[in-house]
Amino acid sequence: MRVLVSLFLSVWLVYGERLENDQTTSVPEDWLHVGQAGPLEELELTFALKQQNVGRVKDLLELVSDPDSQHYGKYLTLEEVTSLVKPSQLTEKVVLTWLQSHGVKICHTVHTQDFLQCSMTVQVAETLLPGTEFHRYNRDGQTVVRSSSPYSVHDDVSQHLDFVGGVLRFPPKGREVSRGWAGTGRSGSGFHLGVTPATIRTRYNLTAADVGTAANNSQAVAQFLEQFYHPADLAEFMILFARGFKHHTEVERVVGTQGGGKAGMEASLDVEYIMSTGANISTWVFTNPGRHESQEPFLQWMLLLSNMSAVPWVHTISYGDDEDSLSTAYMNRINVEFMKAGLRGISMLFASGDSGAGCRYLKKENNVFRPSFPASSPYVTTVGGTSFKNPFKISYEVTDYISGGGFSNAFAMPDYQVKAVNAYLKDEQALPPKSYFNSSGRAYPDMAALSDNYWIVSNLIPIPWISGTSASTPVVGGILSLINDQRFLKGLPSLGFLNPQLYKLQGTGLFDVTEGCHLGCLDEKVEGKGFCAASSWDPVTGWGTPNYPILLSALLHS
Ligand SMILES: *[C@@H]1O[C@H](CO)[C@@H](O)[C@H](O)[C@H]1NC(C)=O
Ligand SMILES: *[C@@H]1O[C@H](CO)[C@@H](O)[C@H](O)[C@H]1NC(C)=O
Ligand SMILES: *[C@@H]1O[C@H](CO)[C@@H](O)[C@H](O)[C@H]1NC(C)=O
Ligand SMILES: *[C@@H]1O[C@H](CO)[C@@H](O)[C@H](O)[C@H]1NC(C)=O
Ligand SMILES: *[C@@H]1O[C@H](CO)[C@@H](O)[C@H](O)[C@H]1NC(C)=O
Repeated sequence: MRVLVSLFLSVWLVYGERLENDQTTSVPEDWLHVGQAGPLEELELTFALKQQNVGRVKDLLELVSDPDSQHYGKYLTLEEVTSLVKPSQLTEKVVLTWLQSHGVKICHTVHTQDFLQCSMTVQVAETLLPGTEFHRYNRDGQTVVRSSSPYSVHDDVSQHLDFVGGVLRFPPKGREVSRGWAGTGRSGSGFHLGVTPATIRTRYNLTAADVGTAANNSQAVAQFLEQFYHPADLAEFMILFARGFKHHTEVERVVGTQGGGKAGMEASLDVEYIMSTGANISTWVFTNPGRHESQEPFLQWMLLLSNMSAVPWVHTISYGDDEDSLSTAYMNRINVEFMKAGLRGISMLFASGDSGAGCRYLKKENNVFRPSFPASSPYVTTVGGTSFKNPFKISYEVTDYISGGGFSNAFAMPDYQVKAVNAYLKDEQALPPKSYFNSSGRAYPDMAALSDNYWIVSNLIPIPWISGTSASTPVVGGILSLINDQRFLKGLPSLGFLNPQLYKLQGTGLFDVTEGCHLGCLDEKVEGKGFCAASSWDPVTGWGTPNYPILLSALLHS
């Protein structure tokens, strides 16, 4: 009996407490195992320290984002956000003592003090985080170091940490922008005139005078996954396609490491369209900001935002993972990071994804739709995609069948959208079977824009037929930046977290998209179909696409 007890005790001491129990540890199929990491190789891990006042952060965000609140637009500085969320002294002390006792010497913190980024050898990491074994993996020439098994932390530390980054999650597959003619079923796309900045400006009612003029305005695209834009591509794109209105031809600032080599089509697309829609507005590019291959680039970008007191007002991002592959602790913490940005008056726009409702193929025909994160976060504005009903005419828009959308399984439906979503759910006849989605979850997207048949310039060559919600997101980003611009000229604060206000507009200033359905599971029950567009809000195109002058006047009060 005694033996058993002490055995139990020692096991407990050695293994501590598992964090992120629900995080997938299987290696995604596109990553190739290269070998075990050597004990003296350097790793850089990110420790997400427990924050204080998370409930208050959520309440405050609701107030500053609600146009009917007297606190609307009363945003916080980074210093003020810090004084709210910074970890308690106890948390800081316990975590630092734990790291030091394992010989971890070099750590960097961020302004908000709620992250620590530390370098250590593989050997140290494996004793610090019992259960881990670090290996090297390769995909298309990119290497990462990750643990093949889950991690624990010392029992005394677990309550002071949300998660440790750089251990389990692999960078997701890029949202591959698709070439229309290479795909299937995009009818007639080979003969399409194609979408250029002129098309966007005509359709969304932007005149030549609708460009940025406010001195302090700024916008950004964030790109990860080894994607680079080339300044020469941007310059050529502007010469070819951005005639007749004032615009910039250069990015104001690049944060992170722009790799050499060939430009990525998605990276070209993001920059070219945010800068021709949000024309004459200072634009930043955040690109692979990590210092080390062991890091998670998306997480590094979130850390950067907490470490810079002046960042652009609008950020557009085309990046996402299956919600079911991520731990709840990680997603909840990333949500708090979005709330922190919202409190500062920053708008976060995410592409809704390019697989419609998605599908998680489970055994015996129990398939379900597959939501994607951060698209499914209640604290970002998610952008879906449309195409022209008549591809030869700048006319009304219908659903682009790839447009990502659906219902989160991780986050409850936020109050701001309950009325709109329930109205959509009322028409049960038009819905997929209930077993495919969770009607109590956060529903997305929130709005949409054209996502089909764009022209870009990449590696100095004009290329047509580029499609995906990574096209529509920077277009919406540019339009919100133009609205911010007009607000700044009137002395008003930025739009910040848009959703509470967007849902109150009930479609004012947006072209309602009511035709077409997006992709779903390829099985007998739903036969490839997900949700369908409907009047007012729907989980394919949200409230619809922007009609700039009307949207501007609706968003230009107080
Ligand atoms: C945050 O910024 C400070 C000062 O600019 C820097 O010393 C620190 O290393 C940064 N933190 C991280 C995690 O990069
Ligand atoms: C905006 O565009 C639509 C369709 O492109 C057009 O019908 C409308 O008259 C334009 N102007 C306004 C102010 O809505
Ligand atoms: C472009 O923006 C600058 C401020 O950044 C402004 O001074 C200028 O007037 C703008 N150009 C036009 C044509 O509005
Ligand atoms: C523009 O930014 C500068 C520096 O951040 C600030 O001092 C100034 O007040 C800002 N101007 C406006 C009009 O917001
Ligand atoms: C449905 O969503 C809610 C939160 O919105 C969650 O608590 C519940 O577990 C979800 N159900 C499934 C089957 O994922």
